[in-house]
Amino acid sequence: MEHDALTDEELLALESQYCSYGDTVHYLNDPPIFTHAEGVWLYGRGDIPYLDFQMWYSAVNFGYRNPEIEAAHQHQMETLPQVASQYLHRTKILLATALARETEQRFGQRGRVHFNVGGAQAIEDSLKVVRSQRGGKSLMFAFMGGYHGRTLAASEITSSFRYRRRFGHFANRAQFVPYPYCYRCFYGHSSAHAATKGRSRREEIGTGEGSCGFECLRQFAQLFETEYYGVIDRKDNATEYAAFYMEPVQATGGYIIPPIGYFSKLADLLRQYNILLVDDEIQMGFYRTGRLWAAEHFGISPDIVTFAKSLTNGLNPLSGLWAREELINPTAFPPGSTHSTFSSNPLGTAAGLATLEYIRRHDFSTIVVEKGAYLLGRLRELQNRYPVLGDVDGLGLALRVEMTKPDGFTPDRALADRIFQAGMQGDTQVGGKCYGLVLDIGGYYKNTFTLAPALTISYEEMDLFVELFEILIRRCLE
Ligand SMILES: Cc1ncc(COP(=O)(O)O)c(C=O)c1O
Repeated sequence: MEHDALTDEELLALESQYCSYGDTVHYLNDPPIFTHAEGVWLYGRGDIPYLDFQMWYSAVNFGYRNPEIEAAHQHQMETLPQVASQYLHRTKILLATALARETEQRFGQRGRVHFNVGGAQAIEDSLKVVRSQRGGKSLMFAFMGGYHGRTLAASEITSSFRYRRRFGHFANRAQFVPYPYCYRCFYGHSSAHAATKGRSRREEIGTGEGSCGFECLRQFAQLFETEYYGVIDRKDNATEYAAFYMEPVQATGGYIIPPIGYFSKLADLLRQYNILLVDDEIQMGFYRTGRLWAAEHFGISPDIVTFAKSLTNGLNPLSGLWAREELINPTAFPPGSTHSTFSSNPLGTAAGLATLEYIRRHDFSTIVVEKGAYLLGRLRELQNRYPVLGDVDGLGLALRVEMTKPDGFTPDRALADRIFQAGMQGDTQVGGKCYGLVLDIGGYYKNTFTLAPALTISYEEMDLFVELFEILIRRCLE
C-alpha cells in the first residue's frame, strides 16, 4: 500500500474498518485528516489552514513545531533517544529538579517529582501516594463536573457515570460535591449568575453584599458536623476520606473559574480533618491561566500536584506528580511503588526541560494576562451583540463561551454543535481565503466552548478568531 498516494476518502474507509471507535473521533461528522502543523495552525483538506483554538486540549501551549523545544528534542534524538526507566539520565534529573524547585518557590514546601506517561497515569500514581499515606483508604472527595482521566481508577474520581457504566467499579470511589460554578449555582443563588457576567468582580462572589456567603462550602462543611452524615468519627475526628481531588479551573467541565476565596477556605477545612488536597493541573498547568500552576491564583498550597500535556508541549508523552517530601520520600514511597516502561523516557524529559527553559525566557505571567484580557474583551463585545453567548469568562488564556437560547441562560447544545461542525468544514471565508476553526466543546450541558489558544498566539490571530467565530455564529443562527 503506497501510504502517500491514498486519498482522504480511502483513508477514512480504512479508518472505519480498522480503527476502534472507542476514542472520541466520531463525535464529528466527516472529520478532516490533518497533514501538518505550525504555530497556531493545523493544515488539512487541500492545505486549508485551521486556526486551532483548543491546541490538543491545552497540550501544546507554546505552539506547534516550537523551534526551541523541537531542537532540544532533536538533540536528544541524536544522542540518547532510548534508555530504560530503571537507569538514570541527565534530563530526568534536571527536569525533576526544575519542577520541584519551581513548585517549592510557589507553594513553600519541599517535595519530589515522579514521572509517568499520560495524565490518567499520573492520577493513578497520585492515588497510590494518597492511599499508602492514609492506610489504604480508598474513598476520595472530588467535584461534580471534574475530569481526571479514563483509566479505571481515574474514572472513579471523574464525575460522569457515563464513563464508568460499562465497566463496573474499581477499587476507589469518590463522593462528588458541587464545584463553585456560580453561573449555574447548584444551590440556585441567582446573584452569582449576574456576577459571572462581568457585571461585578469575581472577588465579590461569595463574600460581597447580597452574595451567597459560599453556600456550597457551608453545605460541604456541614458533612463533618455529626457522624450521622457518614464521613467522620467525631470521637477523634477521623474521616473515611483520604483526599480531595480538585481542578483549580474546571477544564472538561467547561473552563469554570471559581470565585476568589473559595479554595483557600476549602483548604483550611481539609487541613482541619487531615484530608490531603490533590491539585490536578494536567490541563491548566504551564501558564494556561498565566501562572505555572493555576492554583497559585487562589492562595493555596496543595499536598500533591499532577501535571502532563504541555509539560513537553505535546511533543512526547510525559506526565508526573509533585508531592510534599513527607508523602513521597524514599521511605514513604519506596522503590517499586509504581513503574511504567516509558515513565521517564528521555525524549519526553528532554522536551520537558526545554519547555521549562522556554518558559523562563518568556514572561508568560505578563503575556498571558494581557492577551487573555484582550481576547476576553473582544468576546464580551460579541456577547453584547449576540445574547446566545450566555456566559463569557476567562482566566489568562483559558476562556469559556457558553452557548444558550436568546434568554442568555438555557443551554443550547445543538447551536454549539452546529458551530463546532461548521468550523471543522474548513470553508469559512475571510478576505477571499478559506479557513477552518478548531474548537472544543465541554461543560455540564455540552454547550460550552472551552477556548485554549496557543500562548504564543498573535493579536492578529486573535482578531481573526473573533471574525471567524462571529461568521460561524451568524451562519448557525440562520
Ligand atoms: C484535568 C485533567 N486531568 C486528567 C486528564 C487525563 O489526562 P490524559 O488524557 O492524558 O490521560 C485530563 C485530560 O484531559 C484533564 O484535563
